[in-house]
Amino acid sequence: MPLLRLKHEDTRRVVVLMTILLVVSGLGSLISWTVALALFLVLTVAGTFFMIAHYQRASEECRVQQSQDIQDLQFIQSALDMRRPLPYFTRWSSSPALAAQLIGIIQVYKPQRILELGSGVSTVVMAMTLRDQGSGRITSVDHDPVYAVKTRKELAAQELHAWASVLDAPLVPCDTPRGAQPWYDLSVMDDLEQIDLLVVDGPLRKSCKNARLPAFELLRERLAPGAIVVLDDTVRDDESASVASWLSAARDGASRFVPCRKGVTIVQMP
Ligand SMILES: C[S@@+](CC[C@H](N)C(=O)[O-])C[C@H]1O[C@@H](n2cnc3c(N)ncnc32)[C@H](O)[C@@H]1O
Repeated sequence: MPLLRLKHEDTRRVVVLMTILLVVSGLGSLISWTVALALFLVLTVAGTFFMIAHYQRASEECRVQQSQDIQDLQFIQSALDMRRPLPYFTRWSSSPALAAQLIGIIQVYKPQRILELGSGVSTVVMAMTLRDQGSGRITSVDHDPVYAVKTRKELAAQELHAWASVLDAPLVPCDTPRGAQPWYDLSVMDDLEQIDLLVVDGPLRKSCKNARLPAFELLRERLAPGAIVVLDDTVRDDESASVASWLSAARDGASRFVPCRKGVTIVQMP
C-alpha cells in the first residue's frame, strides 16, 4: 500500500516537522519546562493534523490517477486487437496514459518510421498499433541489454517482430553543448533518418543531469518535417529543459501537455 510507505519527500516532511518540534520546545525550555511541554504538545497535535491532511490529499490524488488509468486501459483494450495480455505497466514502464496517447498518435498521423528511446510496454503497444493498421515500423533502443532482451522476447511472443526491433545502444560519452554526457551510442541509429515519431522515454534520470536533453540536440536533424515528438516524465524538473528546447524549436508547430501522473508532452515539429 504505497500511502503507508515512507517515500523520500515524506521522510523530509517528517524530519522538518520533528526538527521544528525539537527546536521550538528547546527554546521553550529556556523559559520553563511547562512552556516546553505545552509547546511540544501543541506542535505534535498540529503536526499530526498536517500529516493527516497531507495523506488525505495524496490519497485523493491517487484515486483520481487510478480512475485515469482505468479509462486509459479501457481505451487501450478497445483500440488494439490484443491476442495476449500486455506486459504489466510498472513504475519503470510507460504509464497507461502514455500508451494511450501513442496509440492515438499512430492512428491519426500514421507515422512510418518510429524511433523510441527506452524499450518496454510502449514498444509492444506501438508495434500492435502498427500491425493493426498494416504499415510502419518501430526501432527501439535500450541501454540495458537485460531489458532489451525482455522486450525482444515479448515482441516475439506477441508475434510482433515484423513491426518492431530493439537495438542495444549502450550509454557512451556524447558531445553536447554542455560538454560530453552519457547518452545512447548514436552509431547504432546511423540508418535512421526521416523519423516521423520520436518517443523519448530514456535514458534513466539517474544516468546524469538533463539525461534526455541530448535527444533534442543529437536527433533533431533526423526528424521528418512535421514529425511528432513525445516526451514522457515531463512533470520532472530535469525534463523541463528538454521540453523547453523542443518547444522553442517547434515555434511554428503545436505542443500539448497531457496532465497525468508522470506528465506527457507532445510536440509537433514545423
Ligand atoms: C522509463 S524506462 C522505459 C520504459 C518503456 N518505454 C516502457 O514502456 O516500458 C527507461 C529504461 O529503464 C530500464 N528499465 C525498465 N524497467 C526497469 C526496471 N524495472 N528497473 C530498472 N530499469 C528498468 C530500461 O533499460 C528502459 O530502457
